[in-house]
Amino acid sequence: MKGIVFSEFLELVEDKFGLEMVDQIINQSKLESGGVYTSVGTYEFSEMLQLLTNLSKNTGISTDDLLQVYAEHFFKVIENSYGDLLNNYKNPMEMLASIENHIHVEVRKIYPDAELPTFEVLEKSNKKLVMIYKSSRAMYSFGLGLMRKTFEFFDTTASIEVEKIKEDGTEVKFLINKN
Ligand code: HEM
Repeated sequence: MKGIVFSEFLELVEDKFGLEMVDQIINQSKLESGGVYTSVGTYEFSEMLQLLTNLSKNTGISTDDLLQVYAEHFFKVIENSYGDLLNNYKNPMEMLASIENHIHVEVRKIYPDAELPTFEVLEKSNKKLVMIYKSSRAMYSFGLGLMRKTFEFFDTTASIEVEKIKEDGTEVKFLINKN
């Protein structure tokens, strides 16, 4: 997992819970990196999982809820750093249906070792989009947060249903209905 995902995560933890919480979750985790991340570096996903799990234990907030909030923060990072990529799209449905074949393809050009999920589009119309998320990292809640922000970016809203295909969250169906 890319360092930018870690550094932005720790920044958000500091913002919301304070620097002491950052130190605490780093100390509670067994991190090969020692908790020092550079944005272009690459680190084990297990480090993110430990940081997230410890933050969840300390705050009583579920890892799914934490990931959604984190995704909302990460969308701002995307807007600031990759705005040109977002400006290719005129509406949220087009954008979300293009993650697999365009957006993450561009991400991979910037970060060849990025660990990205796959999104398979099953159904697409102006109003409805059905996609299957697959990833060994089971970060579908991060995806859900990014999707919500995508609709906000285009000044609109949607109802988004999440149906687990695999209990561990490595395969999830997203049913998106634009309002
Ligand atoms: C992961 C970039 C849009 C879903 C990532 C990562 C980057 C990235 C850098 C981390 C890869 C790693 O750590 O190795 C971007 C950019 C986007 C974009 C620049 C837009 C311009 C989206 C959107 C979704 C999405 C709209 C909506 C569902 C995900 C998910 C992950 C991820 C779920 C976590 C990894 C996993 O589940 O395996 N993306 N992304 N991305 N992205 Fe995107």
